[in-house]
Amino acid sequence: MTAMTKRPIGILISGRGSNMGALIAACAAPDYPARIAIVISNNPDAPGLETARAAGLATKAIDHRTFGRERAAHERVIDAALRDAGVEVVCLAGYMRLLTPFLTQAWAGRMLNIHPSLLPSFPGLHTHERALQAGVRLHGCTVHLVTEVMDEGPIIGQAAVPVLSGDTPDSLAARILTQEHLLYPAALRRVLRPGTHPEATADALLCV
Ligand code: GRF
Repeated sequence: MTAMTKRPIGILISGRGSNMGALIAACAAPDYPARIAIVISNNPDAPGLETARAAGLATKAIDHRTFGRERAAHERVIDAALRDAGVEVVCLAGYMRLLTPFLTQAWAGRMLNIHPSLLPSFPGLHTHERALQAGVRLHGCTVHLVTEVMDEGPIIGQAAVPVLSGDTPDSLAARILTQEHLLYPAALRRVLRPGTHPEATADALLCV
C-alpha cells in the first residue's frame, strides 16, 4: 500500500489555538490528507505557539506591531514564510487581524477561515452575545474561503447547535467550539479532496 500524499498547510493564529489543536490532531492520522508545514502567529505571546512547538511543528511569530500601520508589509513577511515552508493551503484559526487584498488575493481559493456563527448571520466579533440578543434558536460555526470582505466568501461547511434557555455567551461558545473542532478538519479534508478545485467545493454544504 502506498502512503497517502499529505499536502502542506499553514495555520495562522493569534491566541489560544484550539482549532489549530484540532487540525494538529487530524493531521496525525495517517489517512488525513494534510500535514502542517508551519504555524504563524502575529502575537508572539499566543499560547497556541507553545502548543504547536510542543507538537514538534515549525512556528514563526511575526509581530504586527513591528510594522506599525503597514499592514501589507506585515502580510508580505507572512506570505514569504508560508511560501518558504511550501504551503499550499492556509487555515486561519483565530487569526485576529483584518487582511488586506494583498494576502487575500495571493491565496485566493486556497485560504480558509473558521467563524463562530452561521454566516452570513453575525459576521465580526461577539457573535454569541449577538445571537442571544437576537433570540435565534440555532447558532453555529462556518468554514469558508477567504475573500477581501471579512467573514464573507464561499461557504465550505457549517455546523449548527441549538440555543438553550439559560444559555450565556460562554455556554453557547463552548457548545459551538466543540463543533468547530469537528468542522474545521472535515472542511479542510473536503477542500483537499484529490481533483477538487477549492472553489468547486463551495456548492457542497457540510453539516457535522
Ligand atoms: C474560534 O471561535 C474561531 O471560530 C474564531 O476565533 C476563535 C479562535 O479560538 N475565529 P481558538 O484560538 O481556535 O481556540
